[in-house]
Amino acid sequence: MATSLRLGVNIDHVATVRNARGGAYPDPVRAAKIAEAAGADGITAHLREDRRHITDSDIEALMAALSLPLNFEMAATEEMKAIALRHRPHAVCIVPEKREERTTEGGLEVARDENRLAHFIAPLRDVGCRVSIFIAAEQRQIEAAHRIGAEVVELHTGAYCDFHAEGRFDERDGELARLAEMATFADSLGLEVHAGHGLTYETVGPVAALPELVELNIGHFLVGEAIFLGLDASIREMRRLMEDARA
Ligand code: PXP
Repeated sequence: MATSLRLGVNIDHVATVRNARGGAYPDPVRAAKIAEAAGADGITAHLREDRRHITDSDIEALMAALSLPLNFEMAATEEMKAIALRHRPHAVCIVPEKREERTTEGGLEVARDENRLAHFIAPLRDVGCRVSIFIAAEQRQIEAAHRIGAEVVELHTGAYCDFHAEGRFDERDGELARLAEMATFADSLGLEVHAGHGLTYETVGPVAALPELVELNIGHFLVGEAIFLGLDASIREMRRLMEDARA
């Protein structure tokens, strides 16, 4: 059982708003500093192949300015590996990426790409990055992530959150049960277990209560809620809900 639950704040969509107009405002580094002051344990940023939100210079600026650990999300491409090896962030989370998708739609297909991924992550581990793999909560993906030498798995909570938003509560509860079972399974293999995608104030509690979880990564909702509450308050409320669920 993990004693405390870390909150990684994903700042991609601060960059989305900035890029809507070009220029430098609002600055993701400023958001990261507010997140730190509000109690975030880490900052997450996804450098997508098409640079639709976070850019190469954002990663450089975050690495230079942050005292919190950076969780660098990236696709398993040679271009991204070279960037990660240059910056050596605290953690690298390998995610699937399709140009045409609006957001990361599913988990990585590790089981079918085991050899390539094992070779892909080895140099990242060698330079000291903690390698996490973003996967669906499925036993065969967890087993494959373990075999390739990942230290962490991040379980995709998108389906659980979508079912909640659509009022399909039986299916939501089924997803939650699957997340719970797979978190226990991953933990039993010695993997550190994270979760994220689509989490909101309404959906975070039952996920935060899963005892094996060590970290949640949350972005879009926090940045959206910042429009109404301010970023500091939106993060503090999420932390409070996470802590209440753990207690
Ligand atoms: N975890 C991973 C691996 C992700 O790709 C994302 C989305 O970039 C998140 C967590 C955060 O999802 P959201 O922005 O929906 O909170």
